[in-house]
Amino acid sequence: MIRLESVGLHYGPADQPGPEVLRDITCHIPEGGFRWLLGPSGAGKSSLLRLLHLAVRPTGGRLELLGEDIGAAPRRVLPLLRRRIGMVFQDFRLLAHLSAYDNVALPLRIAGRPEGQIRADVTEMLRWVGLGKRLAALPDEVSGGEEQRVAIARAVVGRPNLLLADEPTGNLDDVQAERLMKLLKEMNRLGATVIVASHNDALVARHPGPQLRLHHGWLVEDG
Ligand SMILES: Nc1ncnc2c1ncn2[C@@H]1O[C@H](COP(=O)(O)OP(=O)(O)O)[C@@H](O)[C@H]1O
Ligand SMILES: [Mg+2]
Repeated sequence: MIRLESVGLHYGPADQPGPEVLRDITCHIPEGGFRWLLGPSGAGKSSLLRLLHLAVRPTGGRLELLGEDIGAAPRRVLPLLRRRIGMVFQDFRLLAHLSAYDNVALPLRIAGRPEGQIRADVTEMLRWVGLGKRLAALPDEVSGGEEQRVAIARAVVGRPNLLLADEPTGNLDDVQAERLMKLLKEMNRLGATVIVASHNDALVARHPGPQLRLHHGWLVEDG
């Protein structure tokens, strides 16, 4: 499913590269696996998720994802692969002019699903995250926790093969965080590979699972 071999990443142009934010990372995550992604702020968690979401390409090493060698794959296949990946962004990235409903419907519309099916899936998903009565609300009309829940609904509604979540409980209370974990575990049980970046130690302790731990861009734990 996911294989990294000596993967490195630095930001900035090739002729003026910034410091490496991911260094010599080698690991394998099997299809249907679950991983916590841990490490202090600045360790590289979001950067690793950005790589796995195909928003950036490795600047060194080899990344294999969903059966493709990402470094060698033609640029045009990346959007198709990305449709099979759900991402909960740390900063949500909802479209400000679209309602909660339309934000969640967007990936399904891009995938060309019929509107009837979209309506059923989107309303069910928003109900699941407790926003069944806020379908028409715009992002700036809801709280940070509600925005985060819209972002979660958008990431899972298309039943992605790979689900990436970047500190998805950052704005949630304990009850909502537990509900989110239930949703992530259910997606995992149904076959999705799930990777969750977190520094919510209590949450991780309540839901033990294999951990990838980053420190200054190095992978210091895999197990
Ligand atoms: N777009 C960017 N351009 C340059 N440096 C960045 C960018 N995004 C993150 N970084 C740097 O990369 C390092 C890792 O950041 P990040 O992946 O966000 O870590 P984490 O999610 O673990 O807090 C940090 O030093 C950060 O300043
Ligand atoms: Mg981060």
